[in-house]
Amino acid sequence: MTIRVGIIGTGFIGLDHGNKLVNVINGSTVTAVTDVNKTRAAEVAALLGGAKVFDNGHDLINSDLVDAVLVCSIGETHAEYTLAAIAAGKPVMCEKPLAPTTPECEAILAAEVAHGKRLVIVGFMRRYDPGYKEVKATLDGGKIGAALIMHNVHRNATVPESFTSFMTMTDSMIHEIDTTRWMLGEEITSVQVAPPKRTSKAFPHLQDPQFALFGMESGVLSTSEFFANCQYGYDVRCELVGELGTSSLVNPVVASSTIAGQDADMVPPDWRVRFGPAYTAELQAWITGLGKGEIVGPSAWDGYAATRVTEFGVQAVKTGQRVEIDYIEKPALYR
Ligand SMILES: NC(=O)c1ccc[n+]([C@@H]2O[C@H](COP(=O)([O-])OP(=O)(O)OC[C@H]3O[C@@H](n4cnc5c(N)ncnc54)[C@H](O)[C@@H]3O)[C@@H](O)[C@H]2O)c1
Repeated sequence: MTIRVGIIGTGFIGLDHGNKLVNVINGSTVTAVTDVNKTRAAEVAALLGGAKVFDNGHDLINSDLVDAVLVCSIGETHAEYTLAAIAAGKPVMCEKPLAPTTPECEAILAAEVAHGKRLVIVGFMRRYDPGYKEVKATLDGGKIGAALIMHNVHRNATVPESFTSFMTMTDSMIHEIDTTRWMLGEEITSVQVAPPKRTSKAFPHLQDPQFALFGMESGVLSTSEFFANCQYGYDVRCELVGELGTSSLVNPVVASSTIAGQDADMVPPDWRVRFGPAYTAELQAWITGLGKGEIVGPSAWDGYAATRVTEFGVQAVKTGQRVEIDYIEKPALYR
């Protein structure tokens, strides 16, 4: 069975996912694309082997050519398209964030609950990264004892001038927020943000780097450094400290060089290189699940919870104070 995917938003990630769905993933093809940038949509359709270009996302969602919807447009449009896919009864993978605000996320939860079964997954691909999976398996297997502290580092070579201090939370740390919830199996209940000394390598409006402290239901603390203009490459680190030992990510190494008396491993240049295999695994799990009539991937609740934390996180960036986080009651569909 081949799942025919329609892609809404043919920017960076839309093309990246589309290429994988056509050329790498077993059991999928891309039959439809749309983007407000019609020229770009036509170019991507051609690159993906002649997918039909739709005038808008709603026509694509309701087309008989489309079995499943992939939302890769800008965050502000995610709720509109995810709700339309639920209304059409079609499975939908929405790139992060599920939506930028919690009222929009709550509308998606309500629509999915009213539908009666899951249709939505959210693109938190780090859950599919072999390193993160091994750290989680080590924790779940009891080898390091109970978790006490999680340390996260997320560094990016450079960002454009349009990047703001709040996007640190809503665009970047949202990944650490999801991996922390998933790794520890509990919700984040507080957030505090402390600004370190600013790098001279960032545009003056940007607080860079930023440092956040997330408190968990059980009392575990999760630290998160985001450094948008670290200059040297894309570097994601995670160490989980338990009562008996620690478990850490190792950056994937494909080759090592020895030059002038020094061993040198390559630092990935960007997120597409670092998490390429995770994106592939995420898409394959989604498509394989759909082939069996199952919805496999982070849920709309996971999308809601992450957005909830980023909303409070933005307050914490503004005030520097520790902010307590509350949630709506978790619907039975997600328990
Ligand atoms: N999971 C990840 O690691 C990851 C990585 C990159 C991007 N993303 C997410 O994917 C989404 C897209 O990011 P990107 O980097 O591809 O951005 P992008 O700017 O390259 O692409 C976004 C596209 O959406 C289109 N668009 C805007 N409004 C639209 C509308 N109403 N209907 C249809 N198309 C519309 C734009 O024209 C553009 O082509 C964002 O939500 C981003 O956070 C996730």
